Amino acid sequence: VVMEDCYAKAYCTKFGDTVQCNYECIAYHQMNTIFELSGLPKRYRYELPLRPDSVDLPKYRELREWIDVHRVEVDGRPKYVHNVVDKVNKGLGLFLWSDTKGNGKTSWAAKILQAYFRAVGVLNNMRTRGLFINVPEFLEDMRRNMDTPSAEHKRLVDLITEVDLVVFDDIGTESPTKWVREQLYIIINKRYSEGKACIFTSNISLASLGHEEILGDRIASRITGFCDMVEFKGTDRREGEKERRKN
Ligand SMILES: Nc1ncnc2c1ncn2[C@@H]1O[C@H](COP(=O)(O)OP(=O)(O)O)[C@@H](O)[C@H]1O
Ligand SMILES: [Mg+2]
Repeated sequence: VVMEDCYAKAYCTKFGDTVQCNYECIAYHQMNTIFELSGLPKRYRYELPLRPDSVDLPKYRELREWIDVHRVEVDGRPKYVHNVVDKVNKGLGLFLWSDTKGNGKTSWAAKILQAYFRAVGVLNNMRTRGLFINVPEFLEDMRRNMDTPSAEHKRLVDLITEVDLVVFDDIGTESPTKWVREQLYIIINKRYSEGKACIFTSNISLASLGHEEILGDRIASRITGFCDMVEFKGTDRREGEKERRKN
């Protein structure tokens, strides 16, 4: 049976081929495993054509820079250079924010994470190279594990500090307790000190996030230290998605 949809639909030369494209495809299952391990939600695993509102055009250009792939010749042989690898290796980061929801912040963060997985190869060197963390859920997980942390929680915290790239989605939506804030600071500070890349998405500006009752200026100043600020000004596009799914 030929696959109806695939993560690699946009670029796989076998996609739709009656002989080569089917549910036994090893590359597909490898990608699936990588996505599962990364925690990337299912709806963000597929290539989405994102069309910017005109106010956001320059920002899209800046973000495309992150996922750009170009061909160079090395000793007469073609080689593909993935910008995302270079940026991740340099420990650069992004703070994608907007007052409006549904204008593509999480979609962009997911796009960059996908581009990174693709660039480091299907096998990811057999280790988790990137994580997608839903911050409100993670803070809740920390609260639950405050007294006697489960093995699973400890493993997650270790991974968050170790992997090459972490997406912290929806940071700043609540005001956590002092203890939880401190734990989050330790994690972000560790990544910052080790020069590891982070991408944040938020519904508030970094200045608001720095208020004591939200996350505090220590976290905000770490983020300023290694992230470029990108403010999205486009309108909410979620409705459009619902229509597309119905049709
Ligand atoms: N620029 C865009 N072009 C097309 N669809 C978009 C765009 N931005 C957002 N969407 C749609 O809206 C949905 C929500 O986007 P998301 O990235 O989750 O928003 P948020 O900015 O709140 O994180 C996406 O699944 C996508 O289908
Ligand atoms: Mg979002």
